[in-house]
Amino acid sequence: MSQQIFWNGKFSKADYFYGTKANQFLASKIELFKNHKKLLCLGEGEGRNAIFFAQNGFEVSAIDASDVGLLKLDTRSKEENLEIKTFCMDLNFWKADEKYDVIVASYLHMYKDERENLFKKIENSLNFDGYFVGEFFSTKQLTYNSGGPKDLDLLYSIEDFLNHFILCKKNISEEIVTLDEGIGHQGEACVIRVVIQKI
Ligand SMILES: C[S@@+](CC[C@H](N)C(=O)[O-])C[C@H]1O[C@@H](n2cnc3c(N)ncnc32)[C@H](O)[C@@H]1O
Repeated sequence: MSQQIFWNGKFSKADYFYGTKANQFLASKIELFKNHKKLLCLGEGEGRNAIFFAQNGFEVSAIDASDVGLLKLDTRSKEENLEIKTFCMDLNFWKADEKYDVIVASYLHMYKDERENLFKKIENSLNFDGYFVGEFFSTKQLTYNSGGPKDLDLLYSIEDFLNHFILCKKNISEEIVTLDEGIGHQGEACVIRVVIQKI
């Protein structure tokens, strides 16, 4: 099943599957981005992070494979008088020909063998001093029932990030957190948190 069919199915069932509030970790980094403007959200789904950053004055674009998710994002941004550019595509085919000051992703479940290509494109798309900030489910999340895929190939380890972004400053941690994000993520979870700066 394609990512689009899978995620369209989830996003058709609920009002907002992961709620309307931005991911707490991404939102908590807003001070870090205060001299930055152009921000890209990857695997943005129904748009909770994109809306938050646009409300806070960033020039926001968002990419996702799910047209159902992005339609909700577009509807919400129109209601709130925000301008957010959306692109419906599989990230494996993202051309990455534009530069950004900040790139964010929450719970983007890319397969292990797709990551090298994606991470290279993220690094190349960042302006110098730009940040890539993300929260991902750890491989240890397999033993929790708070959400996320039950496929090891879609889960992350600290090494996945340490072995990439070679010329960047990296702060990568594995943490136990309590998620309260719609019906999709509820309860104790094990996550990888990533703050990467291109230098
Ligand atoms: C767990 S959801 C998270 C959505 C959003 N980031 C959030 O936290 O609310 C994963 C999202 O990644 C998108 N996604 C997964 N694989 C993708 C791919 N290869 N290309 C583009 N989007 C993808 C899905 O369509 C889905 O919207």
